[in-house]
Amino acid sequence: MSSAKPLEGKVAVVTGASRGIGLAIAQRLGEMGAKLGLCSRDPKKLEAATQQLRTVASAVFAMPVDVTRADQISSFVQAAKKNLGPIDILVNNAGVGWFGPTQDATEEAWDSVLDTNLKSVFLMSKAVAPSMIERKTGHIINIASLAGKNTFKNGGVYCASKWGLMGLTGCMAEDLRQYGIRISAVCPGTVDTEFSPHTGKDPAKLLQSEDIAHAVAMLVTQAPQSFISEVLIRPTAKP
Ligand SMILES: NC(=O)c1ccc[n+]([C@@H]2O[C@H](COP(=O)([O-])OP(=O)(O)OC[C@H]3O[C@@H](n4cnc5c(N)ncnc54)[C@H](OP(=O)(O)O)[C@@H]3O)[C@@H](O)[C@H]2O)c1
Repeated sequence: MSSAKPLEGKVAVVTGASRGIGLAIAQRLGEMGAKLGLCSRDPKKLEAATQQLRTVASAVFAMPVDVTRADQISSFVQAAKKNLGPIDILVNNAGVGWFGPTQDATEEAWDSVLDTNLKSVFLMSKAVAPSMIERKTGHIINIASLAGKNTFKNGGVYCASKWGLMGLTGCMAEDLRQYGIRISAVCPGTVDTEFSPHTGKDPAKLLQSEDIAHAVAMLVTQAPQSFISEVLIRPTAKP
């Protein structure tokens, strides 16, 4: 990267930024000079993350938001634009998991996972797209998963959300590339966060949140004439 602050003057919105991968991405984008718009549901955890990020970013706007709710997304996007300016980068990171035999999953579990991991990306992207189209620039990065490329026992509900997200990402990239808007999917393997217990896996051999932030940093510094549409990330050591 040629400049120490390659995102100076840019506005980056990160969903699910209070911990884990979202917090690491926000931290990295803030260090690169971006003004940050952040959301997640728990106000106390979001406030703690905001305090941390204010030490690295030039401006931080945070709002407790449930990304499954269209009304809350609309208010958040409007407020972020008012506080920070037009949104250049959207990272759709908020996500939840449910793992078990698909036939045992409740309808509530299905709705929670699909609404958080898939519908929210549709709603957030729809909310930011008009201003990106008007400005003929923008980058939307969707944090998917290797579970969006593979299938495995007990993964039916989660895989359905992430395979759906991969399809949505590819199709929206085609819809929006004519306006200079780039859409990418990042597919990590298992990351050492609070997301799931990772039973039986050596934490030292898992991916770290910073590994995912590194991939996002690479994507947003790509020269404007091309975009990397998918990044698959695996730990070097097998967990
Ligand atoms: N960890 C892994 O092994 C792994 C691997 C591949 C992909 N991923 C994906 O990476 C993303 C981040 O995962 P992570 O490991 O960082 O998980 P995490 O540590 O559990 O963090 C999830 C974040 O999303 C927020 N969130 C959850 N539901 C939300 C909602 N309805 N509205 C707004 N915010 C919401 C959480 O805050 P609140 O609970 O306060 O809302 C939190 O900030 C997810 O999309 C996940 O599927 C994770």
